[in-house]
Amino acid sequence: MADTPDSITLKNLQTAFAAEAMAHLKYRYFAKLARAAGAPEIARLFEETAEQEVLHAFGHLDLLYPRDRTTPARALALALESEQHEYEEMYPEFRAAALAEGERLAAGEFDEQIGESAEHAAAFRRMLETAAKRFGALANVEERHASGYRAALARHLDE
Ligand SMILES: [Fe+2]
Ligand SMILES: [Fe+2]
Repeated sequence: MADTPDSITLKNLQTAFAAEAMAHLKYRYFAKLARAAGAPEIARLFEETAEQEVLHAFGHLDLLYPRDRTTPARALALALESEQHEYEEMYPEFRAAALAEGERLAAGEFDEQIGESAEHAAAFRRMLETAAKRFGALANVEERHASGYRAALARHLDE
């Protein structure tokens, strides 16, 4: 998938991914309600469909975040970016709007999510730092190998 920000297909993939991901969670939630209401057959239909929505969402993700370009470090950076957006911008704005409308329940829920997103961001940040150190160490080892190789090659050329 080309990384051009103005690509219509890229936007459509993001929209389609959001729709499938949303359907997955909504159906799981509906299943929970249906089961609690004594309708296990309906609950099962929602659960089975929810499972298929995961596969549909993964299909879009395969194109949005191709395996060869989505290293673990890049995945961590992307995840950190979205959690940061949630707790620094999205939820504070939503909370303020909810308070302005007198929607205290929603404001309280957004408030909790600010804390949760901040915790997720912190965990991703810590892991990213650990990974950076590990990859940094690997880079040093590779550099030693490379300079050892250069020295051997220089000796060989001198002979
Ligand atoms: Fe679907
Ligand atoms: Fe989160």
